Amino acid sequence: MKIFIVGVGYVGLVTAACLAELGHQVTGVDIDPDKIKKLEKGECPIYEPGLEEIIKKNIQAGRLKFQIGINEEINKFDMAMIAVGTPERESDGRADLFYVGETARHIAQNCRKKDFVVVGKSTVPIGTATQIRESLAVYNPRKTTFHVGSNPETLREGNAVSDFMNPDRIIIGGDKKAQEALLKLYEKIDSPKIVTNARSAEMIKLAANFMLALRVSATNMLSRICDVTGADIEAVMEGVGMDKRIGPKFLKAGVGYGGSCFPKDTKSIRSISDHYRLDTSIFDAVIEINSEQRKWFCQKVDEITLFTLKNKKIAVWGLAFKPDTDDTREAPSIDVIKWLLEEGAEVSVFDPVANVKKIFSKKIKHCRDMYEAVDKAEALLILTEWEVFKQADLKKVKEAMLVPKIVDGRNIYDPKVVRKMGFEYVSMGRP
Ligand code: UGA
Repeated sequence: MKIFIVGVGYVGLVTAACLAELGHQVTGVDIDPDKIKKLEKGECPIYEPGLEEIIKKNIQAGRLKFQIGINEEINKFDMAMIAVGTPERESDGRADLFYVGETARHIAQNCRKKDFVVVGKSTVPIGTATQIRESLAVYNPRKTTFHVGSNPETLREGNAVSDFMNPDRIIIGGDKKAQEALLKLYEKIDSPKIVTNARSAEMIKLAANFMLALRVSATNMLSRICDVTGADIEAVMEGVGMDKRIGPKFLKAGVGYGGSCFPKDTKSIRSISDHYRLDTSIFDAVIEINSEQRKWFCQKVDEITLFTLKNKKIAVWGLAFKPDTDDTREAPSIDVIKWLLEEGAEVSVFDPVANVKKIFSKKIKHCRDMYEAVDKAEALLILTEWEVFKQADLKKVKEAMLVPKIVDGRNIYDPKVVRKMGFEYVSMGRP
């Protein structure tokens, strides 16, 4: 099929590259000329394992192209997918649909076909497909019949290519013609396909992210009970997760969730609830526990430090909100570093790919490797569970530090082992 994908940010770019890999003819469109120039050369603007390879491969095979802006080219395609950003509105936490609206208008104005399938791919509030349909009708001068679908993506950053090719399920919503087109688009992917109306498809995405965030916040709340009672959250959740009705995933305690999805989608579903005057307390609790969890971590740092943090050198390992990504949006590292600076600490950071230079500029030191970061440090804080940190030479770390103390926000080390090596070691919900 010939697919026109509007918006080559994270979602759009992975979708474009993977659909081309499946054999479709894909054009990715964006309003940012610099991004398009880079992509045309096969350069990937984001860090995502395996993505650059398939972009290059499919450009060479002639299946993947890029262009700036929507124009009459759209008439050569079987389907347009809307994958533009839906940032969170500062005022009320709802998703801002300005770019979705603009895209629908431009598609409508350029479309000369008798009928055309338009699919929403971005994560959006429930009812957005209906608004897309209305907008397409208002701005189309040629009476095209539009078939509107909703096909939210469920990729995890860092695993996006394999998640796209081997998903747990594909969510297909919309009217009949849109559903049929989407089933054809994904026929080579052998996974369950849930076919429903557009509103349910839109809600599945928000509900799934909320349920996952709920599990993480519930686990973190339980980890605080472990902290004060001496129970071990790892053993507790192993036992809990063995109940087949619960299952073992997303039960890892830590310094809280981050990224562009959980924080935004929990706020978005909360604001939908609020809009219809429904009880929002469960959403409020998930959000509140997550932000309190960062403070809980800071409290541990405070307690382990001698007297005060003022003028003390503190090392931070891990800036990205999770491993295998350079994404620091809503990352715990940002709140923790802000707090360290407020307390007057000197902060040295290391992350294998991410940086926070735009936020903190010269106020903190970005180090070239993890050992440079811990040099003469009075505490090491771990905020992302990168594999290199798990494999670190802790003997070398101990020798480099002024005071060998670790506050591990991701529970990556065995407490017995590191304490035996002579570290003072504090983690999340583990004695
Ligand atoms: C999430 C969902 O997992 C995807 O299915 C979804 O498509 C995506 O959002 C999206 O809406 O686009 P992502 O944000 O990439 O994916 O990251 P996750 O791997 O889900 O992790 C989210 C956060 O939860 C991370 O900060 C992670 O450290 C934290 N987490 C996860 C925990 O603290 N404990 C856990 O047990 C699991």
